[in-house]
Amino acid sequence: MRWERDFALRNTFGMDVRTRLYAEYGSVEELRACLPQLVGERVLHVGGGSNLLFTRDWDGVVLHSGILGHEVIEEDGDSVLVRAGAGETWDDLVVRAIGCGLSGVENLSLIPGETGAAAVQNIGAYGVELADVVECVETVDLRTGEARRFARDECAYGYRHSIFKGALRGRYAITHVQLRLSKVFRPKLAYGGLAERLSGRACTPADVRAAVVDLRRGKLPDPQVLGNAGSFFMNPVISEEAFVRLRERYPRVPYYRQEGGVKVPAGWLIEQCGWKGRSLGRAAVHDKQALVLVNLGGATGEEVVRLAQTIVADVKERFDIDIRPEVNIL
Ligand code: EPU
Repeated sequence: MRWERDFALRNTFGMDVRTRLYAEYGSVEELRACLPQLVGERVLHVGGGSNLLFTRDWDGVVLHSGILGHEVIEEDGDSVLVRAGAGETWDDLVVRAIGCGLSGVENLSLIPGETGAAAVQNIGAYGVELADVVECVETVDLRTGEARRFARDECAYGYRHSIFKGALRGRYAITHVQLRLSKVFRPKLAYGGLAERLSGRACTPADVRAAVVDLRRGKLPDPQVLGNAGSFFMNPVISEEAFVRLRERYPRVPYYRQEGGVKVPAGWLIEQCGWKGRSLGRAAVHDKQALVLVNLGGATGEEVVRLAQTIVADVKERFDIDIRPEVNIL
């Protein structure tokens, strides 16, 4: 168990933020043992800090899982069940899976963050979401220390959503995630850009990873160079009627039909409002992907929030569409 006072928090926005107390546990037993010390504290459980925006220091305890490792716990003719520690770096797991000839997560290559947070956030990219491969999520109740396993159907997974960021927010710490990976490769290439990049080539999970890495590197800024938290907003899902009206005015609007409505890329809406590449103070809209807000250097969390609020208001005024942050603002 690691305890640190006045600790500088990792966050990919590159902001200088501290927590009064930082606690990193390396096992379920360590987590259970530290729970009495959390009573009465403001507790924030973090992963790799890749989806957080701090507007001030954290006056409380930040908990972090240092539970590492992964193992195959079941295997049949078609698939294997992998159990991974919540503290494992997500992309290391993807690389390992591909190296073992397993598929299912290759479209989720290069997403920053850790495996536990990936299961909270239901990370998604290029037509695949983590929920597609989750078998179950193992947790500990932060109030009682009891272990509870959530089968996929109990996780209330939706677009960038789960029960762990919804109804049960803050109540459970994810300790392990079980993923069902396939021995038989069924490529999912329908999402724009992937199929074109792979056409004419024999396609393996490693090829898909290479294409996804290439696409991401082309659009998304490297947090080591330019602080950011990936997509700052979620793509709004609007009603069919609202979409018909939108398309009358903007026939070239990109869209994805899905259950419950039509998803419109927030990046497109923001770009139409003229924000792509523009800045407000030291916070800016990335010049290659308008869904991403960046720290030009020395921006405060408040500055990024001000930029986000201005964008939300502009999109609302121009399109009458509400866009909501995907990033957790604290
Ligand atoms: N678009 C624009 N202008 C922009 C950005 C996008 O017109 O500045 C248009 C593109 O032309 C395209 C469409 O919007 O037609 C979609 O763009 P893109 O493929 O870049 O994906 P996205 O919808 O903007 C989502 C995820 C990303 C994920 C990509 C690829 C969310 C919030 N974001 O972005 O996830 O990598 O799809 O699957 O759903 C993340 O969550 O941090 C993240 C990067």
